[in-house]
Amino acid sequence: MKIVAQIKEPINMEMELFEKKFYESMTSKVALLNRITHYIVNRKGKQMRPMFVFLTAKMINNGEVNERTYRGAAVIELIHTATLVHDDVVDESYKRRGFFSINALWKNKIAVLVGDYLLSKGLLLSIDNGDFDLLKIISIAVREMSEGELLQIEKARRLDITEEVYYEIIRQKTATLIAACCSLGACAVKPESEEVEIFRKFGEYCGMAFQIKDDLFDYGNEAIGKPTGIDIKEQKMTLPLIYVLNTCTAQEKKWLINSIKNHNKDKKRVKEVIAFVKSNGGLEYAVRKMLAFKDEALTLLAHYPDSAYKNSLELMVNYVVDRKK
Ligand code: IPE
Ligand code: IPE
Ligand code: MG
Ligand code: MG
Repeated sequence: MKIVAQIKEPINMEMELFEKKFYESMTSKVALLNRITHYIVNRKGKQMRPMFVFLTAKMINNGEVNERTYRGAAVIELIHTATLVHDDVVDESYKRRGFFSINALWKNKIAVLVGDYLLSKGLLLSIDNGDFDLLKIISIAVREMSEGELLQIEKARRLDITEEVYYEIIRQKTATLIAACCSLGACAVKPESEEVEIFRKFGEYCGMAFQIKDDLFDYGNEAIGKPTGIDIKEQKMTLPLIYVLNTCTAQEKKWLINSIKNHNKDKKRVKEVIAFVKSNGGLEYAVRKMLAFKDEALTLLAHYPDSAYKNSLELMVNYVVDRKK
């Protein structure tokens, strides 16, 4: 059996119901909006976030979920979708999930508004049902994601990012939402239990590894459904490059910074930078760090009794770093 099917096995029923609720939660009376949300749901992503929600909930609650769990999973996927729509505007990226991005097809104006619409639909799904504890978890993630993307832009402009700041950026822009998935999964079934914090931390470690993996994809040529090699073009300095900047000679550093600052739209030059990062151990270093985060996540899980859900969560953690897209 394929790994994703294996992970999903103990939550197949939940994922099926989730998809229905997720789609319903997007509908609108505005025809243009419906066309766009239709386009979005027909090109679904990996749905790793709802998988984290259900697996966590079932693992700590003897295989039981409730209505709050479903709503929480739908809210998270709505917010995730909203941030991707906005992120592609910010990154001027024209491909997502193997198709054109919303900004590529409908332009920035519409993409910004669609992102806002999805975000508000998500928040309302919690509010209308009185899930205020879940709403708090989600709102913190939304705030942090905006801060993370802005911190990233600030650093891209000054080209002075350190490894510590890189971790802070990816914690905010990516790990915080996966942390919210796992703490929300726990909170939906066991509010006020200590698991809420333990699984927040677990999700955060997974999320850190997840974004390092995403940043590694950018250095590859695989078909991952979105463009590669665009981070340097956007002056986004990620771990492989940061490591190489910290270990190369002063002269090489000058060349790298100059390339990113003044030649970042020059395809040949960007290829040279990528080649330099590759031949100076940048990818290996990032892989090492990614695996360290993965191990932290697995350590937290190790304390729990064995179950099909725990087994799937472990597979999920491994999938975060082994995935092909
Ligand atoms: C993409 O997330 C955005 C990042 C945080 C890197 P996913 O890779 O989970 O996107 P989909 O939903 O599967 O397309
Ligand atoms: C993650 O960063 C984006 C969000 C958290 C929304 P990226 O800009 O690297 O994500 P991709 O590569 O476009 O999916
Ligand atoms: Mg992007
Ligand atoms: Mg990326």
